[in-house]
Amino acid sequence: MALYKVCLLNELSSEKAIKFHVDGLDILFVKSLQSKQVYAFDNNCNHADKPLEKGKWNSETSEITCPFHKAVFCIAEGGAVKAPPACVPLTVYETEIRTEADGSFVYVNL
Ligand code: FES
Repeated sequence: MALYKVCLLNELSSEKAIKFHVDGLDILFVKSLQSKQVYAFDNNCNHADKPLEKGKWNSETSEITCPFHKAVFCIAEGGAVKAPPACVPLTVYETEIRTEADGSFVYVNL
């Protein structure tokens, strides 16, 4: 595993997931409303191999709804499937927030 610096914390939103390309992967990042952490997860719905970036983020439940066939994944529960047709959890990545001289930065562990 390796730790990658992604962005400034204040570039992220708690209302929608934002895509970054990290080490060859498209990953969505969103701030949690409930905790001070940042969630990072695959920009790929494993039901039919489609991007999740236009999916609806629910900041109350930390769930993302796929825009294609409406599968729901709970990111706070490790990407668990909450509604079909997906049946495999979404890949979720560990993140860290580090305060440095020029701001607070988000890192992801891949
Ligand atoms: S591609 Fe996401 S639910 Fe089908």
